[in-house]
Amino acid sequence: KTFTVKANEVKASVSPTLWGVFFEDINLGADGGIYAELVKNRSFEFDTPLMGWKLLQQGEEQGSLLVNNRGELNGANSRFIRVTSKTPTGNFGFSNEGFRGMGIKKGNQYDFSVLASQQEGTVSLVVELTNSKGEKLGSTTITPTGKPWKKYNASFTATATEPKAMLNIYMKGQGIVDLDMISLFPKDTWKNRPNGMRADLVQLLADMKPGFIRFPGGCIVEGRTLDERFQWKKTIGPVEDRGYLINRWNTEFKHRLTTDYYQSFGLGFYEYFQLAEDIGAEPLPILNCGMACQFNTAEVVPLESLDPYVQDALDLIEFANGSADTKWGKMRADMGHPAPFNLKMMGVGNENWGPQYIDRLKIFTQAIKAKYPNIQLVNSSGTDPSGERFDYLNGELRKMNADIIDEHYYRAPQWFLDNAKRYDNYDRKGPKVFAGEYAAQSVAIASPDNKNNWQCALSEAAFMTGLERNADVVAMASYAPLFAHAEGWQWTPDMIWVDNLKSYGTPNYHVQKLFSTNKGTNVVPLLLNNEVATGQDGYYASAVLDKNKKELILKVVNASNKTQETDFVIDGLSKIAAKGTLTVLRSDKLDQVNSFENPTAISPAVKDITVKDKKVKLPLQPYSVNVIKLKF
Ligand code: AHR
Repeated sequence: KTFTVKANEVKASVSPTLWGVFFEDINLGADGGIYAELVKNRSFEFDTPLMGWKLLQQGEEQGSLLVNNRGELNGANSRFIRVTSKTPTGNFGFSNEGFRGMGIKKGNQYDFSVLASQQEGTVSLVVELTNSKGEKLGSTTITPTGKPWKKYNASFTATATEPKAMLNIYMKGQGIVDLDMISLFPKDTWKNRPNGMRADLVQLLADMKPGFIRFPGGCIVEGRTLDERFQWKKTIGPVEDRGYLINRWNTEFKHRLTTDYYQSFGLGFYEYFQLAEDIGAEPLPILNCGMACQFNTAEVVPLESLDPYVQDALDLIEFANGSADTKWGKMRADMGHPAPFNLKMMGVGNENWGPQYIDRLKIFTQAIKAKYPNIQLVNSSGTDPSGERFDYLNGELRKMNADIIDEHYYRAPQWFLDNAKRYDNYDRKGPKVFAGEYAAQSVAIASPDNKNNWQCALSEAAFMTGLERNADVVAMASYAPLFAHAEGWQWTPDMIWVDNLKSYGTPNYHVQKLFSTNKGTNVVPLLLNNEVATGQDGYYASAVLDKNKKELILKVVNASNKTQETDFVIDGLSKIAAKGTLTVLRSDKLDQVNSFENPTAISPAVKDITVKDKKVKLPLQPYSVNVIKLKF
């Protein structure tokens, strides 16, 4: 088979945001995931205030613990605990179980902090980590002094590695002490930031060089009810003053029950913007449009009461981009980032549909465009296996002249193969497309039995050649969901799996990374017998030039079960270096997965290839994704 590249027939520019990531706090993505806090329910705000905590007591009653609620006095963080210690021995205390235990690494420093107010007598806190056998992994002592609330910090080094450690806090001395915001972080967070993120997880994202990061979801933007929607203003400012919210995924979903899923908002909008900046991705916040999750209550806010929602959107732009002289810009500066975050786009609504969405969207659009005409707005087209709702919305959004339409597809692998040509005949003059959430489902949408197997990843790669080929209309794309904790997930498949100590990229991650790190700048035709390759003989293909690096990059999927001898003829370049590279991602087995035990079972292999007379000859292996890179 022969492919011909027409390297001098540039078809479209590749948007720098074409390949990005979608972050949602689902599957313990934030608390218990990328947010490195090890203590669960650190300020006792869960619906059950002592969830995650357990009393430690030997023999006679040596003390007591009482949850106090300041109510209106301190709206966001109204609860604290009052601890009465009756024994000088230090045998009474309480422990925290962490998020399915705490992942502790030998030699790492751990930073403990607590807000405390000594009410009576003197009570010291003996803080220790223990492993599942109760053996000590490190400890420190804090003695709060005086009544005014004060933050106390102490650090210690762990003596062993343990995936399921517990934090014990024993009281030594007699008296009464009030405690709040009991926190433990590893020192080695991303960029060693206090209140930071797990470095291994951020690194996996940074390695993808994503063009954008969408946050904070997903359905959590909408909430099960409007009261439980995500409100960014409650996620900024001093950590102890931020809100707390039950997570929309704290629920029984597809028979998986999660009852301890809350959002502490220690990872809030400031941190999301900072993360975007760190990994070189454009921030894409998605805001509630005045509608709760339509898969739940489908509650809406009356149009005449929509103002605060719209104001949140306007204020967010000011928070991200305003000078320190503005109210919200000052808030950002006070948090440590005087320079603007340079927000360019924003989403209004996630998987919302129906005329009620359009009515609300129009009000948002008018207000945002009037004040910030350059902000690009992402509009939702929902997800719809029947296609009906989807067509209605797309029609309405086109009439509104939407900037970018967000389409979601959680479908079978075959759908992805069939839809590699999906955008070939799209209207070039209308809105751009954001393939905002997609993932091939090996069993059925969000089935707990779905696997991140090679068949799914291969079909996504085939589909992505179609996105790339149509980069003039497809502006952005992201796999979803992003993270899943092995012991706390609600949804499969997911791109990156984590436990308390480890993480690995699925084959789907490697597909995303291959496309994203080989994005190029301009699309050029890559033809198989003068046709676009959308499945003939199992081939799917696209090509880009990288004008900055002077590279020609071909992406060729061989979805067939046989090796195919393939020739590539390069037209339109005056010279090509004699050596290029071929990166192959493949497996013989379509059901192959990566796992904690074998995290790189499917991972890319690179080798040199030879170019002769502007031709390359390659046997493309069965079930393979191939990236051919040539220098010109
Ligand atoms: O990615 C998981 C969920 O799928 C998202 O929260 C939602 O937008 C979609 O239905």
